[in-house]
Amino acid sequence: MPTTLEVLFAPPEYAVLPKLDLTETVCVVFDILRATTTMMTALANGAQEILPVSEIDEALAIRKHRPDVLLAGERHGLRILADQTGGRDFDFGNSPREFTSETIAGKTIVMTTTNGTRALRACALSKTVLIGTFLGVQAVAGWITRERPSNLLLVCSGTVDQASYEDTLGAGALCDLIWSAYAEGSISDSAQIARQIYSAARCDLYQAMQFARNGRRLLALPDLRDDVRYCVQRDTIPFVAGLFRDGAVRKLS
Ligand code: MLT
Repeated sequence: MPTTLEVLFAPPEYAVLPKLDLTETVCVVFDILRATTTMMTALANGAQEILPVSEIDEALAIRKHRPDVLLAGERHGLRILADQTGGRDFDFGNSPREFTSETIAGKTIVMTTTNGTRALRACALSKTVLIGTFLGVQAVAGWITRERPSNLLLVCSGTVDQASYEDTLGAGALCDLIWSAYAEGSISDSAQIARQIYSAARCDLYQAMQFARNGRRLLALPDLRDDVRYCVQRDTIPFVAGLFRDGAVRKLS
């Protein structure tokens, strides 16, 4: 069967996905800094599931019916506070280092972020949606090599309405690992671009984050600068997670 490998770099590209037939497409969504990295960290530390939602109001509505859920997320990179919710601070921001096993084991976390949760929701009707990170890129590559999806779309969440360097690097790292499996099929120029950019930066991903708008922003914030080093770690998480039909992100069994 012919295969396709493509990368979408920016929000205007993935905004149209809900209108397309993706029933035979597997999507991998990257928000390296920081939403997908945070989700994988939460699952690795024992969270039961994450419910990604686009708006603060959606998160608050879920909490109203399910007081047991924890609320997480950011606007402008910072935790959502009482003045944005009409009364209560969110339990967590979007720093992966906040999601320790002591705080989240066994919990459902409702999360809203600027780009990452939006990108995941845009892919919701595809055959399978996987969570892309540097922490678990080898595990995702292993899943793809085993399952051999014929249409593979790597979706970069971006920064606000623009492409982001860090998500392009994440997609490029995955392209590099699975290249031979798709070499006989149709590899788009976007996948070539992502792989070549990754090849140029792979020897020092932390240094590369200085070229990322979101990387520079986080590095300038004393409380959040350590997130950057955390998010570029390679292959610390051995499992794969995905967005299920009921809208929750969980480990794939
Ligand atoms: C997002 O979803 O836009 C990002 O994860 C932003 C952030 O760094 O918190």
